[in-house]
Amino acid sequence: NKNFSYRDNELWCERVPLKQIAEEFGTPVYVYSYNSIKKAFLAYQQALKPYPHLMCYAMKANSNIAIIHLLAKLGAGFDIVSGGELRRVIEASGDPKKVLFSGVGKIYDEIAYALENDIKCFNVESEPELERIIEVAKAQNKVARISLRVNPNVDAKTHPYISTGLKQNKFGIAIEDAPRVYEKASKSDFLKITGIDCHIGSQITDISPFLDACDKLLDLADVLKSKGIELDHIDFGGGLGIVYEEGQEVHHASELVEALHQKMENRGYGYLEMIFEAGRSIVGNSGVLVTEIQYLKEGETKNFCIVDTAMNDMIRPTLYQAWMQIAPLHVYPENCPIKEEIFDVVGPICETGDWLGKDRKLKVQPGDLLAVMSSGAYGMTMSSHYNTRLKPPEILVDGADYYVIREREKIEKLFSSEHIVEL
Ligand code: LLP
Repeated sequence: NKNFSYRDNELWCERVPLKQIAEEFGTPVYVYSYNSIKKAFLAYQQALKPYPHLMCYAMKANSNIAIIHLLAKLGAGFDIVSGGELRRVIEASGDPKKVLFSGVGKIYDEIAYALENDIKCFNVESEPELERIIEVAKAQNKVARISLRVNPNVDAKTHPYISTGLKQNKFGIAIEDAPRVYEKASKSDFLKITGIDCHIGSQITDISPFLDACDKLLDLADVLKSKGIELDHIDFGGGLGIVYEEGQEVHHASELVEALHQKMENRGYGYLEMIFEAGRSIVGNSGVLVTEIQYLKEGETKNFCIVDTAMNDMIRPTLYQAWMQIAPLHVYPENCPIKEEIFDVVGPICETGDWLGKDRKLKVQPGDLLAVMSSGAYGMTMSSHYNTRLKPPEILVDGADYYVIREREKIEKLFSSEHIVEL
């Protein structure tokens, strides 16, 4: 990603040296490149342009209100999984009419709130959920637009925790049951069937699982057609995987879009509105997490590079054994006396699982800054307060300018909702 590249041995984000941001705001700090986000989003928009379409950014990947606002201005719709995420869309002046609501456990109030705001569609993940939506719609005397999220039983060949379209996963309605549930939905005066949906997993770097899922959805569309049920849209779930490790190959959004549309066209469904709920591929490569080295510690069998960022700030490595590139902000010259060594890059948290990278070759000393690359997706949104660590700030870079889009958290804010009791 050329928005994060070295100039004179210093790592920059667009036209700002990351060191400058770290000095001004402290570490850890998330830094995002606006132009990188924009480019990734427009790659899908451009590819989808010839066809009816809606790009629904999966905001779980990065839900900062500034980012939601900017994506909304670029025309994005949003895929949400909670009432809180819908609140963010509204706060960011996004359009609820472009919102899809996914998730297996939608509670009554969330459904009511979404319906009040007239969202585009509920991606229904079970029969009891369908019944609950009918109940809420009846109470509001409204018609809820729905799509069934079917589980196509396709192996996305990704990490088991982020593989979602297999029979054994909790998600969606088994594809065999879908015709019956669609028929049931078609009989309700409070529902309008608008689409068909699936999501088979995340960080999928190959196009073929998407195509397999598409085939199965179109088979189902055929069955529905024979029952007189017509669809307006087809939702392929999340977007493509991204490059975490140099040399990794990923497809361009246009390859995915073209391949899917070709299939739709061949089977007489070229008219359906194509929907993607892409998250990672919009923001993943557009962010880094900058951290400062506190200590270098020589262990008996390993060297540790102890940084001020931990699993509470970035949980992906320990949760998924995800490999994320760790790059120094300053590159020392060949002839410099600092030795290159192999380190486990670890945080200060009281758990062995608190690591960001293992066996990394680094030429560094305490006080140096490192960037955990490709941290724009599922970084900040999965952060926690474990060990009473405050959440890092988020900075958005646009060319030579940068903006605080989230301030570093203050301890007072953290405590403000807790109450001492005298017993
Ligand atoms: N739509 C639904 C219904 C989803 O469950 C997801 C992701 C997406 C869209 C977005 O998929 P994407 O375009 O980002 O691949 N925390 C994990 C990823 C979890 C993904 C869960 N669902 C990670 O850090 O790798």
